Amino acid sequence: MQVNIFRKKSCVGLDIGSKNIKLVSLIPASQKKFRLKNFQILPLPDDVVQLDTLPENKLSAILSILNDVFSKNKKLAKTVAISVAGSSVVIRYVKLPIMTKEELERSISIEVEPFIPFPINEVYLSFDITGEVIEEGIRKNEVVVAAVKKEVVDTLISLLSKCDLTPAFIDVDSFVLERILNYNYELKGNIICAVNIGANITTVTIIEDGVTRVCRDLTIGMNNFLNEIQKTKQMGLSEILEYIKNDGLILSDEEKEQYLMQNKKTELSISKDLNVLLKDLITEVHKIIDFYYFQKGEQKPLSKIILSGGGCVIRNLTSYFSNEFKVETEVLDPFKNIENSDIVPQEIRPLFAISVGLALKPYIF
Ligand SMILES: Nc1ncnc2c1ncn2[C@@H]1O[C@H](COP(=O)(O)OP(=O)(O)OP(=O)(O)O)[C@@H](O)[C@H]1O
Ligand SMILES: [Mg+2]
Repeated sequence: MQVNIFRKKSCVGLDIGSKNIKLVSLIPASQKKFRLKNFQILPLPDDVVQLDTLPENKLSAILSILNDVFSKNKKLAKTVAISVAGSSVVIRYVKLPIMTKEELERSISIEVEPFIPFPINEVYLSFDITGEVIEEGIRKNEVVVAAVKKEVVDTLISLLSKCDLTPAFIDVDSFVLERILNYNYELKGNIICAVNIGANITTVTIIEDGVTRVCRDLTIGMNNFLNEIQKTKQMGLSEILEYIKNDGLILSDEEKEQYLMQNKKTELSISKDLNVLLKDLITEVHKIIDFYYFQKGEQKPLSKIILSGGGCVIRNLTSYFSNEFKVETEVLDPFKNIENSDIVPQEIRPLFAISVGLALKPYIF
């Protein structure tokens, strides 16, 4: 990780999630330190959060929130860093014939077309040469390619322009996670599995020695959990969320006993539902970890699981993960190394993983 705080124009980290827009503004404080200037969490109305919401409804809700926040905070930079995630993004690790970066720039769409599941003229491509390997006696470049549907990027750019905002960087959530983890943790010699649980998307990345090796966006998130639980409980989503925060997963036999003695049936039932719903997520994360070990032939065990995103509000989620994977699990604090960040309440800090990572983008590469 290289940090350069000089001659970089700061920009606002703007994470436009499907439930919450998170905004972070940082200023360089000293050589590798940054100071928090502004942070906001701006919820979208519940009726536009579902994955199947008509884009126009969602876009107009986002537009009015952004216009409002940037007009109220005149000191915020009008240059932003945003990111994309989910089914419109594909990341592939491929081996290509040896060529220079300039040569690859010219031929990238032809080279990677077989690996991208979308028509190649409908995506924006970005790539990085990450190393060199010998495959069947032939030297090859290892290349990571990100393909993002043009339609999605163009819609975002046009939305931002309506708010008078300019996107200086467009990133993908998995690489933003890599950046925020590198900024906060010593990753050399470690294999980390980062899991960012949002409202509709969970981003899972395996980071080896600080570099992403496998990443995937799963269409599972808090929204599914809340909606599924609501089907059997006569409660509003916010009420269910309160149970999830306060009681969450009731795991140990002692705790179960206590809840039973206090006749807390709703709490026990929600915990049981959550347990079942999380199993799907756990199965998918297991598959991603297995894939990493299969293709690497790596023997070294996973060092840690690091959780972030709105899913971290589920009480006992870290214990649940460490029980399931038999690996130490912790919640990411993206503000850990950011000065003046004590003002951000503990409970919402993990939700800012992507927005802090985006705000760091101009400085860290
Ligand atoms: N203080 C809070 N405000 C809003 N949502 C919260 C809060 N605490 C927990 N949550 C939960 O977090 C979820 C949203 O998390 P997050 O903000 O990470 O998702 P998102 O980025 O909007 O969604 P996605 O990345 O899936 O598009 C909500 O569905 C809600 O259940
Ligand atoms: Mg998100």
